[in-house]
Amino acid sequence: MKGFVQMNYGPLSPNITSMLHGGDYNPEQWKHYTGIWDEDFRLMKLSHINTASIGIFSWSALEPSEGNYEFTWLDEIMDRMANNNMHAVLATPSGARPVWLSTKHPEVLRVQKNRTKNLYGARHNHCYTSPVYRKKVREINEQLALRYKDHPALSIWHISNELGGDCHCDLCQAEFRKWLKVKYNNDLTLLNNSWWTMFWSHTYTDWSQIESPSPQGESLLHGLNLDWKRFVTYQTIEFLKIEIEPLRRLTPSIPITTNFMWLFEGLDYSKFASELDIISWDAYPKWHEQTDLIDMAIQTAFNHDYFRSIKNGKPFMLMESTPSTTNWQPVSKLKRPNVHLLSSIQAVAHGSDSVQYFQWRKSRGSSEKFHGAVIDHCGHENTRVFKDVSQVGEALSKLDSVIGTGVPSEVAIIYDTENRWAIDDYQGFNNQRKSYVETVISHYKPFWEQNVPVDIISMDHELTNYKLVIAPMLYMVKPGVAERIERFVKSGGIFVTTYTSGLVDENDLCYLGGFPGPLRSVLGIWVEETDSLYPNELNSITFDPGFFGKNSTQCESFPVKDLCDLIHLESADCLARYDDDFYRGMPAVTVNSFGEGYAYYIAFRSNENFHDAFYSELIDKLALSSFKNSLFEQLPSGVSMKIRQDENNTFIFLMNFTDSEVVINRKTPLLSNSITIVDLLTLENIGQKITLETYGIKVLKFAL
Ligand code: GLA
Ligand code: ZN
Repeated sequence: MKGFVQMNYGPLSPNITSMLHGGDYNPEQWKHYTGIWDEDFRLMKLSHINTASIGIFSWSALEPSEGNYEFTWLDEIMDRMANNNMHAVLATPSGARPVWLSTKHPEVLRVQKNRTKNLYGARHNHCYTSPVYRKKVREINEQLALRYKDHPALSIWHISNELGGDCHCDLCQAEFRKWLKVKYNNDLTLLNNSWWTMFWSHTYTDWSQIESPSPQGESLLHGLNLDWKRFVTYQTIEFLKIEIEPLRRLTPSIPITTNFMWLFEGLDYSKFASELDIISWDAYPKWHEQTDLIDMAIQTAFNHDYFRSIKNGKPFMLMESTPSTTNWQPVSKLKRPNVHLLSSIQAVAHGSDSVQYFQWRKSRGSSEKFHGAVIDHCGHENTRVFKDVSQVGEALSKLDSVIGTGVPSEVAIIYDTENRWAIDDYQGFNNQRKSYVETVISHYKPFWEQNVPVDIISMDHELTNYKLVIAPMLYMVKPGVAERIERFVKSGGIFVTTYTSGLVDENDLCYLGGFPGPLRSVLGIWVEETDSLYPNELNSITFDPGFFGKNSTQCESFPVKDLCDLIHLESADCLARYDDDFYRGMPAVTVNSFGEGYAYYIAFRSNENFHDAFYSELIDKLALSSFKNSLFEQLPSGVSMKIRQDENNTFIFLMNFTDSEVVINRKTPLLSNSITIVDLLTLENIGQKITLETYGIKVLKFAL
C-alpha cells in the first residue's frame, strides 16, 4: 500500500525556500500615481508578502502598439521584487488582449456556439486556434523570457489566466475535423458507428459536413458532444504548449503553472498534468453562505484534494483567494474573524505550498474595484483585512519545514471530467436529479468527517497505491479501466461503486449484454432495470444482520431516494435489501469476493447517514483511522485534522470550522516520551488538552 511512497517533493521552484505568500499585483494600473509603488513594497514587507503574480493582464502596457515593447515599468517592478527578496510569479499576458490586436486581426476573436462572432471586450475572449493569436502570444512570451531569464526575481511562470471556453470559428471547425480524422484513422464509417449516426438519419458522408455542436444545429449526438469537449481540452493544451515553448527553451529551470478553477467542467484538467510543473488553482468558497462553515469546508477540501491529486500528490499552489470578499458572488459577505487564517491554512493542510490572493491593491475603476484586496481604497495598513493577511504571512513564515511534504492518502475517489460530461448529456432515469458532482462529494464527506486523507483521481489514474477506491456513478467506463479495477481488487483492494455505473463506453455507446458492462464480473451482479423516484417518494433498505461490526446501531435501515437499480446476484453476496415496492427483498447492497479483495455495489441513492454508517465500517475494517486514533480522543464534529508528512516529520493541522471553542484531548498514555509535539506557530510543547478558539487552527509538528 501507499506507505508514503513519495513524501518529499522538494520546493515549488529551486530558489524558493519559504511558503509563498502574496498574490495578483497590477502595478501598471498605478504607474501615474506617484508614491504608490513605494507604498506597495513597504506594505508588502509589513504583511510578510514574499511573492507577487505580475503581468497577468498587462499586454497593452507591455506592447502598446504592435511590435513596440515597453518593459521599463516591469523592469523596475522585477528589480524592486529582487531587492525585497520576493519571488515573481511572472504571467504571460494572453488572458486579455490589447485593442489594436483585435482591430487589426479580427480572427483572434472568439465565435460563440450560436455562431455569433464576439466583439472586442472583456477578457478570455480569444480563439485558441488562430495562427495570428498563437504567433503574437509566442512573440510576447519570448520577449518576456529573453528579458527576464536571468533575473533573480523570476521564480515561476504563470501561463495566461483561468484557461477556458470554446470557439466555434471556421479555423476551429477545420482543426476539429483534423483532430477527428486522426482519432478515427481517417475512417468516416468508424466515426459514424462510434457516434451512432444512423439515429435520426444523421450519417455523415463527408468530413466537411461535421460541425461543432450548436443550439440551432446538432446538439443531441452525444458522441459528437463528447468529442467536441475532448477537442476543446486538446486544443487548449495545444495553445498552452505554444505559450510554453519559448519559456522552456529560454528558462528551462523555471517551473510552469496555470491557474485552474473550482470544479470547472469546461476542461479535463487531468490531461494538463504532463505539460505543467505545478498545479495551481483559484479558490473562492462562499464561506458564510450557510450558518456554519462545515459544508463549504468539505467542498473546498474536495477541490484541494482534487488539485493535489492531478500531479500525484505533489504540493500545489493556492494561486488566488480573496483576503475578504469577492465582487461577483451574489452576497459579498465579510469573512468573520479568524476565517481568513483558517481558510488559508486549510489549503496548506491539503498540500498547498502557497497562499495567494486576488488581489494586492483594489483597482480604482472598472469591474473589480470592489473586489477584496490586501490594500483597500483607503490606502493604508490600519485595516482588519491587512491585519488578517499579516497574520497569515506570519504563520506561513513558521511553516517552512512543511514545504515539499505530501499527504498520505490510502483512499481514492474517482471524479472524472469525461464521465461528468457524459452524465450531463444523458436523457433518462432521473433527469432532474442526476447530481454527479454532489454525489461524489457526498461519498467524500464521511472521510472528511473522520479525517481520513483522500485523493481525488480520474478513472485513468493508477490504483495500486490505495487500499480503498470509490467510484460513485461511474457511468462511462473507458477502455482499460475495468481491467485496472479488476487487478486492484484481485490483489487485495476494496472497490465501491454505485447505481449509474458501467452503462456506456468511451463513445457513450451503451454496453451490450448486461449492465454494469465491463464491471459486471468484478462486482458479480447484473443490473436489469433502474427505477427512478419522484422527489416526494422514498423507499428504504435494511441490512442483513452481520454487516455492521462495532458500528452496529439499532437502526440498520436507511432511506432511499431518486434512483434504485434492480439487480440480480451472480457471484456477489447480498448485504442489504429493498424494503418496499414490487422489488422488495431484492438486493440493494452487494459485495463480491474477487481474488484477495472485495467489490461493493450500492444500488440506490441514500442520505448522509447511510454514507456515514457504510464508510465507517470500511474505515474500521481497513484501519484507515489508526494514526489519528492513536493521537486523539474522538475529535469534536466540525474539527478537521489533516496530515502532511515526509520521511522525517509529521505535521498535523487542526482546524475548527465551528463557531465555538473546542477542546481536543490527546490519548493517554502519551506516545513514547521521546516524541515531542510542538505547536509550530508558538513553538510551545503541546499538553494534554488542545484548545481551538472559534474558527481557530493549530499546526503541530511531531519530532523524534
Ligand atoms: C478569477 C480571476 C481573477 C479575478 C478573480 C476575482 O479568479 O483569475 O483575475 O477576476 O477571479 O475573484
Ligand atoms: Zn476559433
